[in-house]
Amino acid sequence: MQDRLALLPDVLQCLDGKTVSSKEEWLAVRRPEISELFREHVFGREPEGKPSGLRFETVTEASALNGAAVRKQVVIRFAGPNGEGSFPLLLFIPVQREGAVPAFVLINNRAQDAMDPASPMPNDPFFPAEQLVSEGFAAAVFQTNDIDPDVDDGFKNGVHGILDPISEPRPANAWGTIAAWAWGASRVMDYLETEEGVDANRVALVGHSRGGKTALWAGALDPRFAMVVSNNSGCTGAALSRGKQGETIRDINTRFPHWFSDNYKRYNGREEELPVDQHMLLALIAPRLLYVASASEDQWADPVSEFLSLTAAAKVYRLFGLQALEEQPFPPADSPIARGQTGYHVRTGLHDLLHYDWRCFIEFAKRHMS
Ligand code: GCU
Repeated sequence: MQDRLALLPDVLQCLDGKTVSSKEEWLAVRRPEISELFREHVFGREPEGKPSGLRFETVTEASALNGAAVRKQVVIRFAGPNGEGSFPLLLFIPVQREGAVPAFVLINNRAQDAMDPASPMPNDPFFPAEQLVSEGFAAAVFQTNDIDPDVDDGFKNGVHGILDPISEPRPANAWGTIAAWAWGASRVMDYLETEEGVDANRVALVGHSRGGKTALWAGALDPRFAMVVSNNSGCTGAALSRGKQGETIRDINTRFPHWFSDNYKRYNGREEELPVDQHMLLALIAPRLLYVASASEDQWADPVSEFLSLTAAAKVYRLFGLQALEEQPFPPADSPIARGQTGYHVRTGLHDLLHYDWRCFIEFAKRHMS
């Protein structure tokens, strides 16, 4: 494990060779530098700031979960140079509450039914609205395909089709689909800032697998998320790329060429030439709360590489005078560990997002955000 950490780019060492040694220097110099490296070489450059014509429309508002929650369907609308777009958000707000409550937002890359208020599955393990509401959290969900289709379509559809300049050839650092979904997560946060039932300062963003990669990039870019959770996010998510088992950069770029910028393909089989590794993505979440989860049989994602990456981000939490999980032996299955701002578990079983995982996220959130 030691050897692998020694091969990583130093999260604190700037491109000019200087090492940052205070949170002020981190925030002023190294953090922006690392975000730029991820934009340029990995995820691509997203449109900055709020889009024009951003507005929110509550389409339905009804009692749900046997009276325990109010269920709202909201449409988020925006405009760009090539027209207008919109996507739906589904939100459950506990009825029993004093003031605004903390919330979990799920980036839903599966379970389309979870979005359908006509056939809600309130206890679906992928989006267990009932479990979240009974623990005092609001539960919000949006669907990745509603933001940008998960296909290699030449970026003609979804938010790319609406926001991208059409006249010029696509630059090699143009944003991919994961960055588009992350952009959607920030628009959801724009809405939550206007929602009186939710405390926008206590919002946790959760994603599984490709959704987990998205949660990390969204959380890195948007400091309004107080907590970020990546579940089984693997390659170009939480897992270190250098020395990774299972999926490699070449694998992911070959099967999902639309997820990242074209520049990222230069690193197929050349992980060691990347100016970043994934512990630096995790470090961008500091000083906020960060929870990484793996599954024991998910060797494609590589639990050990996810865990090592999390511990390698601890240096940056330390700059803030905060504690985080440090280098230590890989924990046994089903034994969540946490220290200060970060938490981790490896669940027995396959690549999935299950009630057990949510229970761990909720417990961690309750300790810090209740
Ligand atoms: C594929 C892909 C992974 C991804 C996963 C998912 O297995 O190779 O990188 O995390 O799909 O999103 O379910």
